[in-house]
Amino acid sequence: MAVKLERAAYGAAAQDWDPGALPTPFPRTIGPNALRYLEEVVASGLRTDMVGRFERRFAEALGVKHCVATPGCTPALHLLAMALPFAPGDEVIVSPISDYGTVMGLIKQHYIPVFADTAPGTVNLSAETVAPLITDRTRAILAVHKAGLLCDMDPIMALARKHDLVVIEDVCQAVFGRYKGRLAGTLGDAAGFSFDAEKTLGSDTGGCLVTDDDALAERARFLGQSRGGVMQPGFGRVHIAEGNALRMPECTAAITLAQLEIIHDQVAHRDRMARLLTAALGRIPGITPLPIPDSVDVYSPWMVGFSIDPAAFRCTADEFGRQCAEAGIPGASTCRYYLLPAALPFLQERASAHVYPYSKPPASRDYAYGADACPTAQAFLETFIRWSSFCEKYRPEHCDLAADIVRRVADANRA
Ligand SMILES: Cc1ncc(COP(=O)(O)O)c(C=O)c1O
Repeated sequence: MAVKLERAAYGAAAQDWDPGALPTPFPRTIGPNALRYLEEVVASGLRTDMVGRFERRFAEALGVKHCVATPGCTPALHLLAMALPFAPGDEVIVSPISDYGTVMGLIKQHYIPVFADTAPGTVNLSAETVAPLITDRTRAILAVHKAGLLCDMDPIMALARKHDLVVIEDVCQAVFGRYKGRLAGTLGDAAGFSFDAEKTLGSDTGGCLVTDDDALAERARFLGQSRGGVMQPGFGRVHIAEGNALRMPECTAAITLAQLEIIHDQVAHRDRMARLLTAALGRIPGITPLPIPDSVDVYSPWMVGFSIDPAAFRCTADEFGRQCAEAGIPGASTCRYYLLPAALPFLQERASAHVYPYSKPPASRDYAYGADACPTAQAFLETFIRWSSFCEKYRPEHCDLAADIVRRVADANRA
């Protein structure tokens, strides 16, 4: 008999844990102007340009030329994939630990995601893990700043420039984080952001892409939002390309604009709390918090976590996570599903069967997906426990309490 699988849930429904004694993101803190902006949308009879207002403010806040608002980061990265001048079968080197939204657009455009392993001890790829994967078909690097830990972008950019590759940042989990003084999302050629309800800049299923490249921004709007349509005199709308309609709604823009007005204080607070928590977790024998590189001068984590030393404890990481959750850390658990090459079995099926775009030509090599594709990332996730989501409501006493819970679970399970 076929096993009935549970459909994946998103937003508040996916974060419906027992809150225990620690704060959870929901109900979200909403910027004081949200209702005013929403009222403007309604009172104007939908004639506001809230999306344009948000785009201009977000671009200003980041110091970039263009922001294109979308209904999420998955669509934002899809728009970018549509707008980039790549061909089916072209390869994009991607972080292995992420969300499906990172690669969905690449797959829809028939590009081939090639997962680079993580650098040892981190959740991110590095120039060293990317370099051996570059082939004649590589066109771009898509670097995810996982858990607010910004990839070491200077060497990645140097490598990309040497090979004439486009660099895209996925900033969903690191909004307004800073690397060597520069904002995440301004370090590469373009970037995608998520404003999902549970994200740091939590809005309502929103997102955007940013870039300084005029032609790329225009092409993203034309293909991704105007459905590839142009006005032909004497005829009307003609669709000269296969386009899409991935636009942010006005009401979402109203909430996102209000959230943008409070984000800087929230990120500064997150940075302080996450560093306190990291220090407290680091004092527990057998526990290694996510290491914050010196290059990250604003740490804006969406989620937090720690690794356990398996030799130090009698229990498994799954059991350790379960006990942390029972003791009051909301949603504490291992997260093997973050290993993208293992979480997308259909890619391996297509690659093995040489189904388009894995047919030969154009693919320039054999592609292997699955849990073994990125052994460092896989090993890391075996002993890594995260909790979703770290949020703006944490105070120093919450950091102490979370570390105290982890310490008690650790002490109860010492080998
Ligand atoms: C790293 C990363 N990339 C992409 C996405 C997809 O973003 P969205 O849900 O806004 O489409 C997420 C969402 O969880 C994410 O965490």
